[in-house]
Amino acid sequence: MKYLIEPNDLSVKEIDELIMLANDIIKDPSRYQDVCKHKILATLFFEPSTRTRLSFESAMLSLGGSVLGFSSASNSSTSKGESVTDTIWTVSCYSDIIAMRHPKEGAPLVALRRSKVPLINAGDGGHNHPTQTLTDLLTIQREKGSFENLTIGFCGDLKFGRTVHSLLKALSRYKNTKFVFISPKELMIPEYLKKDLLERENLNYVEVERMEDVIGDLDILYMTRVQRERFFNEQDYIRLKDYYILDEDKMKLASKDMIVMHPLPRVNEISTKVDDDPRAKYFDQVQNGRYIRMALILTMLGLDKEVERL
Ligand code: CP
Repeated sequence: MKYLIEPNDLSVKEIDELIMLANDIIKDPSRYQDVCKHKILATLFFEPSTRTRLSFESAMLSLGGSVLGFSSASNSSTSKGESVTDTIWTVSCYSDIIAMRHPKEGAPLVALRRSKVPLINAGDGGHNHPTQTLTDLLTIQREKGSFENLTIGFCGDLKFGRTVHSLLKALSRYKNTKFVFISPKELMIPEYLKKDLLERENLNYVEVERMEDVIGDLDILYMTRVQRERFFNEQDYIRLKDYYILDEDKMKLASKDMIVMHPLPRVNEISTKVDDDPRAKYFDQVQNGRYIRMALILTMLGLDKEVERL
């Protein structure tokens, strides 16, 4: 596997294999502690991150490898005007695998042309975030056992939320999935996803504005942050940022089996009072993000068969 730019670069079978490997790592991570010895991961983050960058680094260190990179464009020669392609070409001379995040949609795809090593998109603008999708899929598999016959509600900023766009693409390949999009008019799911995915594949979906009307029907509620950094106008952001706040009263309307997911960071959209509800799974996602990235690094480096499975 030479690149992961968008979630459907992976076949359903490849996703199953990554999830099986992550579940094997979870059983006893110490068995994998030396598999990537002498391998180097570069994390190139042209946009801020806590979870994605640090979970990639934690994953490689847990596999016995090393990491290098930068956490903002201002710390690199990008600030002198170097192109993203030249940056990736350069860093691929120093590393065995690269994870990059960039604010421009399509930047990882452009950079891929010159990378001499496997390249992973760690988030490009409002476009895709395939490793968050793998994190979400591992969480769903562990909590629900399957990706079929699920009703999943996406709530909040569905226009700019790349984690929503990526997870939607991945889940669209499974049987009998129903999508419920909960957003204000200004932040509805983009038209291109409706036309090129939902309608073309004849998927079952509805769009609503009130969370209270649908929360009782959901197997999964996937909350998202309003993406301040992608707004052109601060006043619009202020008007929309607290449109949805999941609190204890709304959780009373949900089924006892519904799970709450969120890619994080959260701002206000989930009350901290929900955190101790057993249905809240967003910090399980954080934990799963480390293990699925271990599985991804091993697979992309061709080292996924080095440890006997339990
Ligand atoms: N979920 C996620 O991408 O978080 P970070 O922006 O902190 O990496």
